[in-house]
Amino acid sequence: MRYILTYIDNALKSCYAAAELESVKKALCLELLGISSVTYYSKEALTPDPERERKLETALNRLAQGEPLQYIIGSTPFCGLSFRVDSRVLIPRPETAELVEWITEDAGASGSLLDIGTGSGCIAVTLAHNLPHWKVQGWDISEGALEVARENSRLNGTDVEFNKADILNVTVTDCYFDVIVSNPPYVMESEKEQMENRVLDFEPHSALFVPDSDPLMFYRAIAEFGNRVLNKGGRLYFEINPLEAEALKEMLSDAGYHDIELRKDIFGKQRMIKAKL
Ligand SMILES: C[S@@+](CC[C@H](N)C(=O)[O-])C[C@H]1O[C@@H](n2cnc3c(N)ncnc32)[C@H](O)[C@@H]1O
Repeated sequence: MRYILTYIDNALKSCYAAAELESVKKALCLELLGISSVTYYSKEALTPDPERERKLETALNRLAQGEPLQYIIGSTPFCGLSFRVDSRVLIPRPETAELVEWITEDAGASGSLLDIGTGSGCIAVTLAHNLPHWKVQGWDISEGALEVARENSRLNGTDVEFNKADILNVTVTDCYFDVIVSNPPYVMESEKEQMENRVLDFEPHSALFVPDSDPLMFYRAIAEFGNRVLNKGGRLYFEINPLEAEALKEMLSDAGYHDIELRKDIFGKQRMIKAKL
């Protein structure tokens, strides 16, 4: 065990700060290599295993190239559940978990909910898990993302219905919801310069970016769609770009929504908005 730990330290010490390196090391050993936590913490000797060594070598090379740990391990925790992730989906973020908590707190006993731009399905599946009497759907334009989302629904024992849809050209008319939630692409192209290479080089750009010329394009399309398909008193919840918080509030009010409420995330940034129809 000591040999593996030193080997990982040497391979990754230039890539991570000390505290992060400790958690990367633990995740590699426990989740990728399947070493038990007793063996990991007691540092007891391991029998040589060429398959394990090959796996570790591949993972270390990928990490050294800057690939996110979650894609290498193939899963990530979110709101107490575990989600499969790969390069077809965005890695769920802690800010998104706060949005899920908000919706869970507000929800009544039953209803219908649509998650637009579902990606890994983290929002839809967690809400279906938290709210067992709700009917939950998830939509995405990416077939690859929908495959990941369906697997996550199955693995977490939920029954979310996933459909392919382009929210910018949506044709569906015969469905109604009590809640629509979305964490759509919202990073402006001009913000790329401040972003980490780990995100830029590996996470899907179609999940992240909007043109500087129209940063609210997804929100406007969803607000208009909500006007057609939200039941009376229905609610919209969005994760948002803090730079667009006030513009978004105004857009939602112009689109006929009321009781509009902004919320900050754990980092103190305006990151979520709720509006009623
Ligand atoms: C920021 S990611 C959010 C993923 C997931 N909901 C989460 O919170 O981690 C945005 C998602 O919107 C999807 N998307 C992009 N354009 C879309 C469109 N026109 N219609 C529907 N979904 C779209 C992307 O494929 C991506 O999965």
